[in-house]
Amino acid sequence: MEFPDWDASMARQASQLSEFVPAGARVLDCACGIGTQALPSLAADMRSLPFADASFDVVLAADNALPHLLTSDDVLAGLREMRRVLRPGGRLILSTRDYDTIRRERPVSTPPSVGPGRTVWFQLWHWDGDQYEQEMFQLNEAESWRVVVSKTRYWAVTCDEITELAERAGFGYLEWSLHVYCQPLMIGTNG
Ligand SMILES: C[S@@+](CC[C@H](N)C(=O)[O-])C[C@H]1O[C@@H](n2cnc3c(N)ncnc32)[C@H](O)[C@@H]1O
Repeated sequence: MEFPDWDASMARQASQLSEFVPAGARVLDCACGIGTQALPSLAADMRSLPFADASFDVVLAADNALPHLLTSDDVLAGLREMRRVLRPGGRLILSTRDYDTIRRERPVSTPPSVGPGRTVWFQLWHWDGDQYEQEMFQLNEAESWRVVVSKTRYWAVTCDEITELAERAGFGYLEWSLHVYCQPLMIGTNG
């Protein structure tokens, strides 16, 4: 996802997500990444979180963080850790790309997105079963165009697959909302 208007995107996402976060909640943003929804941070693997049991009221895993885990065992391990650090009755808020649609359509690129100044982003997606390698191209115009490419890999995991794994991890009251956020959003409760 690219954010041609960074401040507006931050404000919109914060406002949409805050609907689901009770006032005064202790929140773990897992993973904060480039910081779209972020607060102070530390580096850790979501399959092995460096926090005590029941430390948080809310765990947030927004903007496609979970699908960096490429197997059902790894996703289950991540979800189990998120549940472990949540207090009983605490809330998981998770968003992913719309992989139900994406798995049907198997796009191989995203349209170019133009940012402030003369900056252009687009992605190429190289499919391998239900996983794909994403190449992100960022073009910046200086004296001539410069290109920066970053790569990452995702599992295009569907809502049903995440729901099943979240149930196995011990979450209850799982519900997906498709239109309240820029991605499908799942809310789950610990217990
Ligand atoms: C798509 S970004 C989203 C981040 C953030 N929520 C946002 O909206 O900007 C996903 C992040 O997950 C991180 N990540 C990938 N694998 C991880 C793992 N095993 N444990 C923790 N974080 C991981 C990546 O480094 C990346 O920063």
